[in-house]
Amino acid sequence: MDKLDRTLIEKLFTNKFGPDQTVEIRGWIYRTRSSGKLVFATIRDSTGIVQVTIAKNEVPEEIFNDAKKALVESSVIVRGLVKIDERAPGGKEILVKDFKVFNFADKYPITKDQSEEWLREQRHLWLRSRKLSAILKVRSTVTGAIHKFFRDQGYYEFTPPILTPNACEGGATLFEVKYYDKKIYLTQTWQLYAEAAIFALEKVYDVAPTFRAEKSKTSRHLTEFWMAEMEAAWMDYLEVIEIAKKEIKFIINEVIKSNREELELLGTDISKFEEMIKKPWPNITYTEALNIIREKSGLEINWGKDLRTIEEDELMKHFDTPVAVIQYPKDIMAFYKPVDETVEGTPGPVAKCFDMLIPEGWGELIGGSERDTDVNSLIDALEREGENVENYDWYLDLRRYGSVVHSGYGVGVERLIAWLCTLDNIKDAIPFPRTLTRMTP
Ligand code: 4AD
Ligand code: MG
Repeated sequence: MDKLDRTLIEKLFTNKFGPDQTVEIRGWIYRTRSSGKLVFATIRDSTGIVQVTIAKNEVPEEIFNDAKKALVESSVIVRGLVKIDERAPGGKEILVKDFKVFNFADKYPITKDQSEEWLREQRHLWLRSRKLSAILKVRSTVTGAIHKFFRDQGYYEFTPPILTPNACEGGATLFEVKYYDKKIYLTQTWQLYAEAAIFALEKVYDVAPTFRAEKSKTSRHLTEFWMAEMEAAWMDYLEVIEIAKKEIKFIINEVIKSNREELELLGTDISKFEEMIKKPWPNITYTEALNIIREKSGLEINWGKDLRTIEEDELMKHFDTPVAVIQYPKDIMAFYKPVDETVEGTPGPVAKCFDMLIPEGWGELIGGSERDTDVNSLIDALEREGENVENYDWYLDLRRYGSVVHSGYGVGVERLIAWLCTLDNIKDAIPFPRTLTRMTP
């Protein structure tokens, strides 16, 4: 073939390409059917889908036969003339002059009406589907937006170790790894190391893999997921809540700007998100949340118990925006969350902490807090959690040398993507999901 620049399919549908212009596209056969002297195929690339017609009397016989023989997912280089055709999707098609099959695909195992779990078994192929490609594009926008949001406000990206000797969110979900003749864990959060970083950089963020050996099978838990965290010196927990709201609104806005087509394909109600990011997102206390759940949903929960999934879902039925629930009981919180001494009249002490809950059954999107700066109360809390305090000595040093008030939070990236993409299950928000029951492909 002579030299001709490849055109991305989405560009074909712009005004730049008029009738009878010669173009070359590269991609994969999405659908194909033939009738006698004609083969009708649709070709997809990463940007779109276009219909092509191969007519027996327009191409050499060998090429026609190849086109007829090539099955779905065969990779092809197609040259032809742009034709305006109102019946074709997008109003244009290509009349083929040359059709080179790069690889004749075997019979593709994925067809219509296969179960979601079977498709997950074929994930390496299923990634090519329109649904998964759309999700992957949204995912790329989301992580890009996180970097942009923080960098634009003077935050530094700070990268944590993935292998760590410490628990941060309780020992029950730690993944143990053999480390020569010792043991070490896969990180549950970047937080403890970020707390070291703020003394050098003051404001830091990251987006990184995170691991939790979750023991239950749910549609919102993965064992390997990505958490986007931030940590800042000189900020209290109420200040970082406002940053969290701005961050999530910023990400939603970026996704709406960049991925309207993908969101439509996925069935997301874009106007609902557009409205949501214009409204203020409230803070309510844990105690107020219990009252709402009791009064409006008739569910009785004892003060001092953590909110379970069903209670979070009940609560969120009464809101049309995300909600930051603040001041959970200190006793059920991770060791690093300090008591909020300014709060009076609750049955027990509450922590300077928050969870941001989102609607539609996704529950907790963000967990965050101020960090305890008192060495003795940290030691007490670690002992209560059954931790070996010696392992945390480096962390306690951070309180011994120029300690400052500081706070941070972590966003569950896949929960955010699942919510924006209107998914049924968090597993489709990550390319190759790892769960209690799945570690392949
Ligand atoms: O609330 P978590 O456990 O908070 C922390 O780890 C803090 N150290 C973060 C910080 O302050 N820097 O987790 C944060 C978020 C949750 O709100 C949830 O969205 C997500 O991470 N998450 C999970 N997502 C998917 N699968 C799991 N197993 C998850 N566990 C937590
Ligand atoms: Mg949490």
